[in-house]
Amino acid sequence: MMRNILLAAFALVFLTAQQTPPGDLNGNWAARNVNNTDGVVRSTYFNLKYEDGKITGTIRATQFFYTIKESTGGPDGFTIVAAMNDGHSERRVQYEGKLVGDELRIGRRARPDAPLTEMVAKRAPAGEGALPQRIEPPARHNVPYNGLAKTPPMGWNSWNKFAGRIDDAAVRGIADAMASNGMREVGYIYVNIDDTWENGRNAQGEIQTNKKFPDMKALADYVHKKGLKLGIYSSPGPNTCAGYEGSYGHEEQDAKTFAKWGIDYLKYDWCGARTLYTDEEMPAIYQKMGDALLQTGRPIVYSLCQYGRLDVWKWGPEVGGNLWRTTGDIRDTWESMTGIGFRQDELAPYAKPGHWNDPDMLEIGNGGMTDTEYKTHLSLWAMLAAPLLAGNDLRQMTPETLAILTNREVIAVDQDKLGKQGSRAWKSGEQEIWTRQLAGGDMAVAFFNRAKDEAKISVKWSEIGVTSTRRVRDLWLHQNIDANAPEYSASVPGHGVVMLRISK
Ligand code: GLA
Repeated sequence: MMRNILLAAFALVFLTAQQTPPGDLNGNWAARNVNNTDGVVRSTYFNLKYEDGKITGTIRATQFFYTIKESTGGPDGFTIVAAMNDGHSERRVQYEGKLVGDELRIGRRARPDAPLTEMVAKRAPAGEGALPQRIEPPARHNVPYNGLAKTPPMGWNSWNKFAGRIDDAAVRGIADAMASNGMREVGYIYVNIDDTWENGRNAQGEIQTNKKFPDMKALADYVHKKGLKLGIYSSPGPNTCAGYEGSYGHEEQDAKTFAKWGIDYLKYDWCGARTLYTDEEMPAIYQKMGDALLQTGRPIVYSLCQYGRLDVWKWGPEVGGNLWRTTGDIRDTWESMTGIGFRQDELAPYAKPGHWNDPDMLEIGNGGMTDTEYKTHLSLWAMLAAPLLAGNDLRQMTPETLAILTNREVIAVDQDKLGKQGSRAWKSGEQEIWTRQLAGGDMAVAFFNRAKDEAKISVKWSEIGVTSTRRVRDLWLHQNIDANAPEYSASVPGHGVVMLRISK
């Protein structure tokens, strides 16, 4: 009896050892980290093969799928370098790890001399965390126009100020502010939740919210009662840019869920789809969600976010897009804002009612620029017929920030019914004049001074296509001015603007 038990025990130990002999790096390893603020589990998978002193295989860090390219060392201590294609460039990561018992202790360094931020990876079933199978893009067709966004959408978006720190309470607070501080009255209507609201899916495949957003339907009801609309965010990939659940393979289901919640606006962000699709396949992939949104029967503004790749302005309307980002992410600096804004000139012909170029959300009030610079920001965006999505904390802003955001006369230029985007009419060094054709024969003229010091910008009206100057109004001073002489000179502060409306 005793002998049999001993034999069985030996056999068990032997077999277990056979499956995972100590020091065996081979197999799939998962490090699961729970995010304390939202309760979402983020996993990093190391699918490793150790042979002839080399480690090969793949790494998935939530939304990033890497292939191991180089390795040194073995189970007792190793370094691996892995890479993935990111659009037209390559993204590389380096991990250092070692086996301790049957745990893989592995991590990265922020800088070569920084300490290792280690995670503990445990054995995971084969295939878990693998790149999902590619679903072939649909054949192209034109998605009918949804009839929305006749003028550029206006509202607020959570990303610029809050990034991952946005939650239900903050969104309600923002909606309260918008409904009571005058913003709603001048046209700011959409309250848009950006990335980081998502959790996984339930057994039926329905996308779930994480603990920051306990009840999206209730939140939508709250926002609607304030006379506002609610926007949300997703990605065509398995994951979003911040690594949360994306709509991949669930496009119709998610569109229905959004409609059921009462969502009025979707920003659909490419990042997570780049591992499965090429840039050339973007239109078909965006068309899929365009169709799905339309099929819900609910009016949902469709915002494409793929950073202007593949000349999106040429096909955005065909896939049902109401607006499309034309650039990478804006930052709250003068260089970033002007670098984007003044580069939009050639895109003017592509904007029209229902379909807008989107040079990204506003940074007004976020603190990285002066109020003079923020006036330039709003003026330039208005000349560009750009969506005006405030990106600051509306619950606590200075009166100056609120005054800039709610300048009705500048907003009227942005929201002009003709829907013609303005363009550069004149440039000399760091001074530029932009003009925009408005409905009823009016014209907006903006004198921009990109230099640090005040400058005088002088121009002959005839040089920039202005024929009548009987009624000229300064949209920041809120007063009519005498500009009847054939030449006009504006004194423009450093990094500032003088914005005029010339009426017939
Ligand atoms: C991308 C977008 C941003 C924001 C983040 C969220 O970077 O361009 O506007 O939505 O993703 O992760």
